[in-house]
Amino acid sequence: MKILHLDSSILGDNSASRALSAETVTHLKNSHPEAEIIYHDLAAQPVPELGSGHVGARFGAEVTDEALQADLARGNAFIDELIAADVVVIGVPMYNFTVSAQLKNWIDRIVVAGKTFRYGDNGPIGLLPEARRPF
Ligand SMILES: Cc1cc2nc3c(=O)[nH]c(=O)nc-3n(C[C@H](O)[C@H](O)[C@H](O)COP(=O)(O)O)c2cc1C
Repeated sequence: MKILHLDSSILGDNSASRALSAETVTHLKNSHPEAEIIYHDLAAQPVPELGSGHVGARFGAEVTDEALQADLARGNAFIDELIAADVVVIGVPMYNFTVSAQLKNWIDRIVVAGKTFRYGDNGPIGLLPEARRPF
C-alpha cells in the first residue's frame, strides 16, 4: 500500500488539520504496517504559485530557467506520486472560505489535462484509478 500524505496548514503545531491527517495516517499504518508513506509539508516546502512560465511550458515553450525546470520536475513528480498512491491523506485547512494557498498551489501542479483528467462532452472526467474514494 502506498500512502500520499500532505499537510498544508500555516499554523504549525497549532494546526487542527495536521493533527487530523497525522491521526489518519497513524490509523492506516497500524492496519497496514508495510505501507510506504510519501509526505509533503506544503507550508514548510511551499510550491510556488502558478506563473506564465508554467503555462508557457505546458504549451510547449522551451524552458531555460533552471529554477522553473526544477519546479516543473517537482510538479511532474507530484502527479506520479498521486497516480501511484493507493490512499491520499490531505490535511486541509479552510482559510477565507477556501483551501489554503499552499494546497491550491499543489492542486495547480496536479490538475493536468491528459494526465489526471480529460475533457468530456459534459465537463472534466478524472483519470485517476477508479478505486479512489474520499477517506
Ligand atoms: C487566516 C484564516 C482564515 C480563516 N478563514 C476561515 C473561514 O473562512 N471559514 C471557517 O470556517 N474558518 C476559517 N478559519 C478558521 C480555520 O479554518 C481554523 O482555524 C482551522 O483550524 C484551520 O486549519 P488548521 O488549524 O489546520 O490551520 C480561518 C483561520 C485563519 C487563520
